[in-house]
Amino acid sequence: MNFELSEEHIMIRDAAREFAQTELLPGVIDRDETQTFPHEQIKKMGQLGFLGMMVDPKYNGAGMDTISYVLAMEEISKVDASAGVAMSANNSLVCWGLEKYGSEAQKQKYLTRLATGEILGAFCLSEPDAGSDATSQKTTAIKNGDHYVLNGVKNWITNGGNASVYLVIAQSDLSKKHKGINVFIVDKDMPGFVVGKKENKLGIRGSDTHSLLFTDVKVPVENRIGEEGFGFRFAMETLSGGRIGIAAQALGISSGAYELSLAYSQQRKSFGKEIAKHQAIAFKLADMATEIEISRLLCFKSAWEKDQGKNYDLSSSKAKLFCADAAMRITVEAVQIHGGYGFVKEYHVERMMRDAKITQIYEGTSEIQKIVISRAILKD
Ligand code: CAA
Repeated sequence: MNFELSEEHIMIRDAAREFAQTELLPGVIDRDETQTFPHEQIKKMGQLGFLGMMVDPKYNGAGMDTISYVLAMEEISKVDASAGVAMSANNSLVCWGLEKYGSEAQKQKYLTRLATGEILGAFCLSEPDAGSDATSQKTTAIKNGDHYVLNGVKNWITNGGNASVYLVIAQSDLSKKHKGINVFIVDKDMPGFVVGKKENKLGIRGSDTHSLLFTDVKVPVENRIGEEGFGFRFAMETLSGGRIGIAAQALGISSGAYELSLAYSQQRKSFGKEIAKHQAIAFKLADMATEIEISRLLCFKSAWEKDQGKNYDLSSSKAKLFCADAAMRITVEAVQIHGGYGFVKEYHVERMMRDAKITQIYEGTSEIQKIVISRAILKD
């Protein structure tokens, strides 16, 4: 067993760190306040290869491994978790499934542009009445000759307003339950497709979250990914990898909050000494550092399993569960360490606490991860 990062991994981590500090940090408070998507920064991330990190270079991807992706996600999310989720959705939820299951024509048409960030992608599973219970899809896709007709509503879609390509999960044959579900590539300009309301959110406010409306949208059969009825398995497999990305996003939020807390507690004085020298604060730092190390190891373990071609459904759920819950605990403590300063925006940690919350909710709530984990335990 080797816990050392390779030189290449260190280079990728440092490049992401440099980018986050120089390009994402300026303006992050303002983007949160005004709910502004980091357009320019996301474009640059695409040019640097961060939006198609694991895609084969023959489709314009960076051809890196999942460990590199975790390293970059941590550094980006440490500074701006909104940029982190845009990156995660494009890499894990859109590029991955297109590369693995898309036809050659779909890859040439869409993946080659998604991998460079020339266009952004969105993954559309959640609906007003189908979040955790993902098989209860109400969006319909009825086959009519050489196309399907899509009708329905999707909710809380990351990159919803800025994407050009949407992977849409829809029910084609209710009698077959989840085996009647398909997945389609929908272009933004298809008639009948409308980007709906932008959500006004607690956290990740720089990320662009919308509802989407489909009214008699004609989608050609060649835009279906995989065989008829493959959509639910596609969504589940996609989310297994997505959970590594969100675990790494949560890890980034934790390490960002920890680093700020460590620095603050070593310069802020009370009762004649730096507050870090009071055991009440030192023990909080010790807990944070330990939980961050566990988080990182869980992310690496799952990423390693994915890179080795092993099954990573269980490890990605464990990583997401722990990292998300740890991010919530750590950011609450970060605000506490900062005292009154932690409660105001300039010190970043209150934003991190708000950003952490969504990691316990999207791409499978913490409770859904416990379902996945406990089912695996009880099956053994
Ligand atoms: N890989 C492949 N197939 C899988 C799978 C996986 N990881 N997990 C389940 N399946 C298959 C099962 O094998 C089964 O297929 P068969 O009937 O052919 O055997 C089928 O899927 C149904 O599985 P279950 O019976 O286990 O289904 P369930 O209704 O009990 O639900 C669940 C299982 C794990 C709870 C699932 O519904 C789930 O993951 N829910 C959470 C959904 C979610 O994460 N939503 C987040 C929205 S996306 C988002 O947040 C993106 C964003 O914008 C950031």
